[in-house]
Amino acid sequence: MLKAQDIPVKELILSALEARKKAYTPYSEFKVGAAVLTAELRIYTGCNIENAAYSPGICAERTAVYKAISEGCRKIKAIAIVGDKTGDSISQYAFPCGVCRQVMREFSNPEEMIVIVAKSCEEYQLYTLNQLLPESFGPENLI
Ligand code: THU
Repeated sequence: MLKAQDIPVKELILSALEARKKAYTPYSEFKVGAAVLTAELRIYTGCNIENAAYSPGICAERTAVYKAISEGCRKIKAIAIVGDKTGDSISQYAFPCGVCRQVMREFSNPEEMIVIVAKSCEEYQLYTLNQLLPESFGPENLI
């Protein structure tokens, strides 16, 4: 079992900050970057990608998770998220939306999965997914 202290927090935050630079956000001008750590200890990154028709847009977290899943990974151990309006400085903690929390739930153990919301490598907060999505519904319910 991977513990919080085994998570490469700074590497994940730096990866998320780098991914945020690629966000495509002509409509909201709110740029988000995410980096997931898989059970294989691989890191996949993602950014939010908007669309002129609005609803086809996707959040950074789901971009990152789906990149990992599409490469064959099935368990997510941690995710780092950075988000703020266009510009280099991050002055808020961008928490994952409800849909992204449910997608993380699908591919993790919510008691163990670590969600890192960050402003920088020095300023960040750690949560378990269970804290952000308590009493959740998941794959086990359908067995
Ligand atoms: N967004 C994310 O990328 N992640 C979240 O968890 C919340 C919102 C994006 C979607 C949209 O492109 C922009 O931020 C404003 O909602």
